[in-house]
Amino acid sequence: MNKFVSGLAVNLLMFMVLPTAWAQDNPPTPKKISSPHQTKGLWYKNCIIYNVDVDAFKDSDGDGIGDIKGLTQQLDYLRMLGVNVLWLAPFQPSPMQDNGYDITDYYGVDPSLGTEGDFAEFIYQAHMRGMRVINDLVLNHTSIQHPWFQEARRNKNSRYRDWYVWSEERPDDWNKGMVFPGVQQETWTYDKEAGAYYSHRFYKFQPDLNYKNPEVQAEVERIISFWLRQDLDGYRLDAVPFIIEDPRSDREDPIHYFEQITSFRKLTQWRKGEAIILGEANVLPDENMRYFGDEGTGIHMMFNFYVNQHMFYSLASKDLQPLKKALRDTRDIPPTSQWAQFLRNHDELDLGRLTEAQRNKVFEEFGPKKNMQLYERGIRRRLAPMLQNRKQMEMVYSLMFSLPGTPVIRYGDEIAMGDDLSLKEREAVRTPMQWSADKNAGFSSANKKLDNPVIDKGEYSYKRVNVEAQLRDPNSFLNWTKKLIDLRKQCPEIGWGAWQILEANSPDVLVMEYEWNGSHLVLVHNFSEQPQQVSFTSGATAKVRLENLLQQETLKPDKAGVHKINIEGYGYRWYRVGGLLRLNDLK
Ligand code: NOJ
Repeated sequence: MNKFVSGLAVNLLMFMVLPTAWAQDNPPTPKKISSPHQTKGLWYKNCIIYNVDVDAFKDSDGDGIGDIKGLTQQLDYLRMLGVNVLWLAPFQPSPMQDNGYDITDYYGVDPSLGTEGDFAEFIYQAHMRGMRVINDLVLNHTSIQHPWFQEARRNKNSRYRDWYVWSEERPDDWNKGMVFPGVQQETWTYDKEAGAYYSHRFYKFQPDLNYKNPEVQAEVERIISFWLRQDLDGYRLDAVPFIIEDPRSDREDPIHYFEQITSFRKLTQWRKGEAIILGEANVLPDENMRYFGDEGTGIHMMFNFYVNQHMFYSLASKDLQPLKKALRDTRDIPPTSQWAQFLRNHDELDLGRLTEAQRNKVFEEFGPKKNMQLYERGIRRRLAPMLQNRKQMEMVYSLMFSLPGTPVIRYGDEIAMGDDLSLKEREAVRTPMQWSADKNAGFSSANKKLDNPVIDKGEYSYKRVNVEAQLRDPNSFLNWTKKLIDLRKQCPEIGWGAWQILEANSPDVLVMEYEWNGSHLVLVHNFSEQPQQVSFTSGATAKVRLENLLQQETLKPDKAGVHKINIEGYGYRWYRVGGLLRLNDLK
């Protein structure tokens, strides 16, 4: 058995016998890792993921569009930053009506982004630098322009007809279950050429594939195998709940076929033992286990949308209870599974899982104007403009990096890029990476107006916010993020360990403790802009000194074993018992 995992198993056993305070806050009967094939390659349990839109990152040939060669040129920057997994947004041929999530050929690279050769070189160079790469696989739907759909609509007798989901009559729920309410009008659209309605959970140019057809299943398997053969280290599976639903069942409460996830997992593991699936599934806690599967038969990782939304609510309201509850509600997952924690992504900040009152609170605090909101449930802003100041930014990133799971950041987050609300829908958060104060932010040497314009006005203009300037400034957000990434890499307890929330006497302060292989971390975050006096204690770290990992400070407990700290407004602290990481079992 892999050493890491045997350590994990030992650890899991250990916390069954820990003191009650610890045990209460942890799953009562952790599952054992029983099958060797499931224990291979658990690298995703503890890494730093960086999300890139190839077309917005770096343009190498001056045509105004970022490309794979440009991304390859910037790999040393990414290595310097310390990220070790790159997640590429879709780059296959696409009319780009939905930022590439509308594909016309699954087996290639969009010509505006480069060639298959460029891609092979990119993968080689990324691997040479110790970085893994995962790509987005959009397997719920194709573009309406995909030759399969073109053939299907043209010819009733074509084998492709049944690759999509049709109805002769307009279904009763034709305008139910929209993913983009306010923009999208329906989920069944009439196609004149086909003489029938087709199903689409997303925009009408994204017809749903029919997973009931074995040919679709076989094709999807070919697509997954193909990209794993291109040496990818896994994939982000787009829109998982929609892939596995029966589109003919109730739109608002559909039937799900979880066996589909198991077959993705089996195929992935057979084709490449260490490859992973990172699932996009914004689901409720009681559904998590169906997606992760028993003992690692499902998706390896999922974005923790539930914690994300409650984190924003707790930040907005300063009421920490909802975040604590969301953390506890999403804790009990198999030991080989992992959460991907994040703040913002390429979509809107989706607040659909909050109550209306909670959502309104987040709107009020972080997106008060109508043009900042989207789809009746979210906010289309980048993080920096949503928050008050640098201090709060640091606290919020430190918090996200300290949550159980693997952190995911989006390109541009590391320099605190802004958004462009004059752009439509989610395009606001997809503007080009700001490399320097040169023309087009150093993103492109094109002598024409860019289709995707750089931010050139105001506080977040590339003239003020760019990589080059921040590299030279030791106090820049970029250098701070780099330090945070470094720190997170030195704290494997977070990726691998068990955790509990400690009782702190301040309602505004979150204190979490991690334990892994005998090593203990205590992480403190002040959600308030006011300084706080906090005292906390725990079964495991009471009576011992805590070493601050970010500055010279040794925190001694008082006689009763209680730790007391004065923490500044939006302050954060990372402590370890005994300072340096010393693991019992990493031989
Ligand atoms: C989820 C992706 O994150 C989003 O950007 C896209 O529009 C939909 N899936 C449809 O593919």
